[in-house]
Amino acid sequence: MEAKSVHLKTYCDEGMPGPEHFDITTTAVNVDDLQDGDIVVKASVMSPDPYLRSQIKNSASTAGLAPKPLGSVMSGFIAGKVIASKNPKWTVGDLIGASLPFQTVQIVSAAALQSTVAWKLTDLVDEAHVSHGVGVLGMPGSTAYGGLIDVLAAKHGETIFISGAAGAVGGLVGQIAKKIFNCTVIGSCGGADKCEFIKTKFGFDHAIDYKQYPDADSLTAAIKAVAPNGIDMYFDNVGGIHFEAAFSSLRPHGRIAVCGGISQYNQAVRNNVSINPLQMIYTYQRIEGFMCMPWLRGVKGNFFPDMSRWLKEGKFHIQETNFEGIENWPAAFQSLFTGGNFGKVVVRV
Ligand SMILES: NC(=O)c1ccc[n+]([C@@H]2O[C@H](COP(=O)([O-])OP(=O)(O)OC[C@H]3O[C@@H](n4cnc5c(N)ncnc54)[C@H](OP(=O)(O)O)[C@@H]3O)[C@@H](O)[C@H]2O)c1
Repeated sequence: MEAKSVHLKTYCDEGMPGPEHFDITTTAVNVDDLQDGDIVVKASVMSPDPYLRSQIKNSASTAGLAPKPLGSVMSGFIAGKVIASKNPKWTVGDLIGASLPFQTVQIVSAAALQSTVAWKLTDLVDEAHVSHGVGVLGMPGSTAYGGLIDVLAAKHGETIFISGAAGAVGGLVGQIAKKIFNCTVIGSCGGADKCEFIKTKFGFDHAIDYKQYPDADSLTAAIKAVAPNGIDMYFDNVGGIHFEAAFSSLRPHGRIAVCGGISQYNQAVRNNVSINPLQMIYTYQRIEGFMCMPWLRGVKGNFFPDMSRWLKEGKFHIQETNFEGIENWPAAFQSLFTGGNFGKVVVRV
């Protein structure tokens, strides 16, 4: 069968990543010659995710994943269908979510399945909604779930501030906080349209257009205008002045979950933030970083049963920004850094 894949063409240490950094190539995959344990996966959707930004940097100072070798196939989260199987755990027709190379058709060995993260979507969604496997029932969903429920330890009725609020992770954090914990939910995102969107579609109580606030002091004032008693929790997707403003607004016993720092990803060297940690002593405040993997792998929490149930109960507004064709994966990836997306960016292949 013919397969197409996304390759890294050239590094982008600084500035905006774009189509010039990637190649799309076509190869032949012999799906008739399977070993025991192999499955063949046909991708339906591929996910451009911000964490991949560090893989296309060659600078030694970069925090995050190691750079990918030039010419290699980019890997990340996909959702699709098993079209052949010599593995007793997988049946032809199963819907699958997994972290795999960005290749439209591929043989995945038993060893590869073991070493990556892969989960069955078959009982959770129908094929028309397989894209949920890269969103609410995939990596972003598990990030929102684990970060809010276990890292921030959300309590009923608290006040939460979320940056990147119109995006895949932030939008779900806000909706779980509102629908499950009845929190007062404040979101920050770029522009009036997104502010209106997170209030009307995601149910946020307040929206802050961060582009109106050039520094931490003015952003702090904007948070305090809607939360005069401060915030109990901050879910950080953006870093930089957002982190400083949230820290200044944090109430006693407040918690910050460090999830991401997209405001820094296109820089060669990331900025340090300026906070005084002594503030945390008598207030018992806490800052904690985390990765989604324990929840996605089912090691912590109850992610798949809880999120799929809430989804079926209609608790979430699921928003996707779709790109058609693997050739548009680079443009879709770029949209994360220009703010071109509402909700989850999905590339339909
Ligand atoms: N810890 C983990 O396990 C984990 C897992 C998944 C994701 N993450 C992190 O979570 C964050 C959100 O990821 P996502 O997949 O949900 O992406 P997303 O929010 O769907 O898309 C990225 C958004 O970031 C915003 N943005 C881009 N540049 C910005 C800047 N300079 N300042 C402020 N906002 C900026 C844009 O929204 P605006 O239009 O509002 O600017 C854009 O829509 C990222 O930092 C990502 O690395 C962490």
